[in-house]
Amino acid sequence: LNQLLFKDPNQPPVVFHWFPFLGSTVIYGMEPYKFFNNCQEKYGDVFTFILLGRKMTVTLGPKGNEFVFNGKHADLCAEEAYTHLTTPVFGSGVVYDCPNHMLMEQKKFMKFGLTTETFKAYVPLIKDEVVNYFQTSPFFDGQTGRVPLSTAIPQLTLFTASRSLQGREVREALTTTHADLFHDLDMGFTPVNFMFPWLPLPHNAKRDKAQRAMAKLYLDIIARRKSGQESQTEIDMIWNLMNRTYKSGESLSDLHVAHCMIALLMAGQHTSMATSTWTLLHLAAKPEVQKALYDEQIKVFGKDLAPLTYEKLSELKMVNNVIKEILRVHPPLHSIMRKVKSPLHVPDTNFVIPSTHYVMAAPGVSAMDEKYFKNAKEFDPFRWVGHEADEDNAEKFDFGFGLVSKGTASPYLPFGAGRHRCIGEQFANVQLATIISTFVREFEFSLPPGQKNVPLVDYNSMVALATAPAMVHWKRRGGSNH
Ligand code: HEM
Repeated sequence: LNQLLFKDPNQPPVVFHWFPFLGSTVIYGMEPYKFFNNCQEKYGDVFTFILLGRKMTVTLGPKGNEFVFNGKHADLCAEEAYTHLTTPVFGSGVVYDCPNHMLMEQKKFMKFGLTTETFKAYVPLIKDEVVNYFQTSPFFDGQTGRVPLSTAIPQLTLFTASRSLQGREVREALTTTHADLFHDLDMGFTPVNFMFPWLPLPHNAKRDKAQRAMAKLYLDIIARRKSGQESQTEIDMIWNLMNRTYKSGESLSDLHVAHCMIALLMAGQHTSMATSTWTLLHLAAKPEVQKALYDEQIKVFGKDLAPLTYEKLSELKMVNNVIKEILRVHPPLHSIMRKVKSPLHVPDTNFVIPSTHYVMAAPGVSAMDEKYFKNAKEFDPFRWVGHEADEDNAEKFDFGFGLVSKGTASPYLPFGAGRHRCIGEQFANVQLATIISTFVREFEFSLPPGQKNVPLVDYNSMVALATAPAMVHWKRRGGSNH
């Protein structure tokens, strides 16, 4: 009754709920997209729901995406929305535990370490890790077999990202002494901690211990490098960050380098493992896409399949289309949040969002909307064929069914936009393209007999994962050594 009687016409409609504090927490948490779609139908593109006592105003559609992503920092603040989840995991003084202008500088520092030159060096390293995994993992023993992707892919993405971006020492530590630590730290990166940051959960004590031990791993590497015990034989992110200085003249401290490295490890690991897993599952469900990918490898690398190189990756249009399509159907991050700092008018509406609210964008909703993508629910990488150049060059690109803006007011923004936009997009593409190419060269795969569809999404994690075990059957391509 309260909700009906005290409805303010200048505030977005509140999603109906029975229990004041709980609000829509359970229904949102279990199936966020179903919740968003139902609310959109009932209330339109702008509505407020209660997430454990917090008022979350969701703004859907391309305009809603723009509203959140393009918000000024004085109006919309990311650190207040995320810090209690990320700071205990990443460590102090970086990302959301520092003033926003420092994060902007840290992102620039990280970008310095993501150049064409580094990517050229990374492709063979990533490829070697994947091949080594095929040779040593019991999941890939023999000529045919089955692999639970939920177990195998997190290992594979961790090895490939750590060997390339993180550097050789981190890669070695993560299989030996530090494997459990990474696991403990990772357990702290869950929605439970986002929802109940104050709860003294047992895994939080482990998380804090693991955070300190992981930071020490990086600090020891930095100390060895500074003392000259390790010379710079390879380019990696640690070397890059060790040489950076803030505009204020202060250099990035060793502790901040360590914490930035943990942030990069976490940001990249979850998103890439979810994307690689969904890719392999959809390929298993669609042999015609596997064939197109294999044919492309032969076309670009010759029938003897010359080694993968960074330069050649950009010629793999089909691989890139597959990645784009996976990120349309399964964007790893379903909810982007900001804390409102001053009352904010939502353009084209009468609504003013009070400063007690949070705002939430869900670009995955518009990416799966029939208004912008024909047969939006279907995984169809061929829909991007012929539009590759448009996406790179044009302000607006046309998929053959209406113009879609490439700017912030776009229905397709898997890497976000504006000041908090992802810096890892190119690295993710290099990592994913190398992993997918190496898989396709080596194997043909299929879903288990009798299973027609890819598994359902499991929303119990920070990213939209495939429900475990995400089993796929594989068969080695005849006589291939690649
Ligand atoms: C930010 C997605 C991979 C590092 C973001 C954001 C999205 C995103 C949507 C914006 C978050 C917001 O506005 O609140 C993805 C996807 C990836 C991916 C889909 C892979 C498929 C990576 C990788 C790295 C990385 C590999 C590191 C190498 C970051 C960083 C930010 C970010 C540092 C900036 C956060 C901020 O400014 O607040 N990513 N990401 N991401 N991502 Fe990624």
